[in-house]
Amino acid sequence: MSSWSIDAKPAHVHWTDAQWQAISLKGGNILVAAAAGSGKTAVLVERIVRRIMDPLDPAEIDRLLIVTFTKAAAAEMKERIGERIEEQLQTNPSLYLQRQRQLLNRANISTLHSFCQELIRNYYYDIDVDPKVRIANDTERELLKEEVLEDVLERYYSQPVENAESFF
Ligand SMILES: Nc1ncnc2c1ncn2[C@@H]1O[C@H](COP(=O)(O)OP(=O)(O)OP(=O)(O)O)[C@@H](O)[C@H]1O
Ligand SMILES: [Mg+2]
Repeated sequence: MSSWSIDAKPAHVHWTDAQWQAISLKGGNILVAAAAGSGKTAVLVERIVRRIMDPLDPAEIDRLLIVTFTKAAAAEMKERIGERIEEQLQTNPSLYLQRQRQLLNRANISTLHSFCQELIRNYYYDIDVDPKVRIANDTERELLKEEVLEDVLERYYSQPVENAESFF
């Protein structure tokens, strides 16, 4: 069972009401979908920094898992979290925040696939996967796609047409 809660929006902030909701809503899973350049990363960074500094239940930055689809997005996320921590340090130079700044270097902020790769490397014996597994490069991915497409085409073209509705 989840019990949702949201903080009142402080008067001085520039966030829209919808952004504030995405920043401060607590108690369950949330999905944010918004247009390009509308502030998704800004909102997520704020959510993370508030989570680190939560007065009741602070989570250290290296206890969070933050995944993105691209390396550039992961790097941007890390940089922007670092900037927000710096800003907070100006008014609140606590040891705790200084520690968060340090921990940021080894925080789990990465692409989804490099996180998965690390999981496999660390726990290959439990999941029965070759620890030497690596992420395919663009050429390899293209070749794999072609192979799969060829397989599918051959399989369906060798069948009577009536069985091929989903194929079409
Ligand atoms: N409510 C707001 N008021 C003023 N500026 C804002 C507001 N929300 C976001 N911004 C600014 O808008 C710019 C774009 O924000 P951000 O990069 O977070 O968007 P995004 O949705 O992640 O973009 P993309 O789709 O490119 O990933 C940033 O400079 C951010 O600080
Ligand atoms: Mg973004």
